Amino acid sequence: MCSIIGYKGQLNVASVLVDSLKRMEYRGYDSVGIATINNGKILVKKDVGRVADVNKSLDLGRMPGHTGIGHTRWATHGGVTDKNAHPHYGCTDRIAIVHNGIIENYRELREELIFLGHIFISDTDSEVIAHLLERYYAEQKNIKKTIIQTCRRLKGTYAFVAAFEDGTICGSRYDEPLIIGSVNNGYFISSDVLGFLEYTDKAVFLENRDIVIVDSETCHIFDLEGNIVNRPITKVAWELAAIDKGKYAHHTLKEIHEQPKIVEKTGTQNLKIQEFCNILTNSKTVLLTGSGTSYHSALIAKHILSKFAKIRAEAIMSSEFQYTFDAIDNTSVLIAISQSGETADVLQSVKAAKQMGARILSIVNNPTSSLARISDSSLSIDCGPEIGVAATKSFTAQLSLIYTIVDRLCKGCLDFEANKASLVDALRQVLDTEIQIHSIAEGLRDARDIYIIGRSIHYAIALEGALKIKELAYIHTEGIAAGELKHGPLALIDRNSYVLLVNPNDIASEDNISSAYEIKARGATIIGISDRPNNVYDIFIKIPSVKSTFYPIIEVLPFQILAYYLALAKNADPDYPRNLAKSVTVK
Ligand code: AGP
Repeated sequence: MCSIIGYKGQLNVASVLVDSLKRMEYRGYDSVGIATINNGKILVKKDVGRVADVNKSLDLGRMPGHTGIGHTRWATHGGVTDKNAHPHYGCTDRIAIVHNGIIENYRELREELIFLGHIFISDTDSEVIAHLLERYYAEQKNIKKTIIQTCRRLKGTYAFVAAFEDGTICGSRYDEPLIIGSVNNGYFISSDVLGFLEYTDKAVFLENRDIVIVDSETCHIFDLEGNIVNRPITKVAWELAAIDKGKYAHHTLKEIHEQPKIVEKTGTQNLKIQEFCNILTNSKTVLLTGSGTSYHSALIAKHILSKFAKIRAEAIMSSEFQYTFDAIDNTSVLIAISQSGETADVLQSVKAAKQMGARILSIVNNPTSSLARISDSSLSIDCGPEIGVAATKSFTAQLSLIYTIVDRLCKGCLDFEANKASLVDALRQVLDTEIQIHSIAEGLRDARDIYIIGRSIHYAIALEGALKIKELAYIHTEGIAAGELKHGPLALIDRNSYVLLVNPNDIASEDNISSAYEIKARGATIIGISDRPNNVYDIFIKIPSVKSTFYPIIEVLPFQILAYYLALAKNADPDYPRNLAKSVTVK
């Protein structure tokens, strides 16, 4: 999703902004722009494309000045064009803004402003912010009053930063993150700590409707009434070095290979895990929510909570939560799972549940994220920044933490800690199948449809495997519960079909083999992922035997590797798939 960066200080602003935007590239975007203020003039340059390319063609990094704002846009309102890229001016070049979120009442604001004589250039919802600021600033020449009046008019979600020709930068947020980074003789305002982490680890997280104004010497935060508010400084602990691709061609491949180490170190937050468990055991209703991959983790959590901790739980996709759940009160607990901790659908579900009295537990990768901060208790999966848009290491880290929690709840019945070493070894063995899976990917590159079949807990892995192939390789792939084949999907199977069967040796295994024969009878190619070979498989990917409960943690890796190599075979960029963003901060 869009990234925002603002800087006022002593450094040459343009190159600082370009570097910041590069570090936030992983969030996903389609166009780039920068505004700098120099000698009382705001200069804007922007275009469609990647930061490095636009920087090269427009020489962004050499724009003059020590104050400025920058943006990468992920289109919501209006096509992917240079005109719709941010920053946006008002009618003149005296104020420019960058925005993330959706201004829901932008149509009526636009009409009102057009009636007053404002001329709009773009098709975006964001441009109204520039014109509103321009309108109120013209009336009173007071930046604080101007931004307060502007924010009062906005409905929807926003984080924006505005640059005024006098050299002031200011911003505000509502349901989109905005963070201040404080450096010697200057300040950053960013949507992501990665925007300034190279310069400072001192961050101030703004609350909803906070307003920040950075003028010549100071940085002040106000509420919507204009009162000064104090927000604590948080020391951010992420290591920038981890953003490097190291010896790998892509972040995604590096992150796939990091998984054994991540599983190895899970479970160090002893006291917090206990607090989590105490809240869970004292609740009558347990709900789980998440989006995409994190929802698949929720499905696995539901399964093992019920089977081993004897806690019945319901897993609901965050995007469906608001339409599904009413039976929530102060005896309920909602476990929200989110790598970023910023996913709009997840945050909306959490807020709704919180309003109905539920306690909120969260599992995040970013302990300073919005989700972590609104939770009653939050656990970090602690797997380091995940840059590839497709979730890989964060999924196994989520599973690993979920198994640790359930093990604690069932008083060690899973023996997770004792099994960890063999699990880590098993993960390494699966990574050794990379060359084989690479060649399988070459064979599947022209597949039109791929089906992934799994039963019981492995159905969640079939869904996750399908999601990986869809997003990285743009091939239609469906995860199907094996038992449901005969209720419809079998009609799709013919000799052109490729079917991957998640079939480790457990209680569902024999039934899976029967399903595989039914599929084979229709001419499909069957790829078995299992610790035991079988004649029904045309291709066999061997995974090691582990204690049966733990198979989901290792059996997902072949799908991640397959999706990665399919992307390469199809000339797609595995780190930045088309149309997708890492942090989905709009509904
Ligand atoms: C996973 O590969 C996807 N990129 C996506 O489904 C992701 O899991 C989803 O958007 C949720 O993100 P979150 O975990 O940061 O909330």
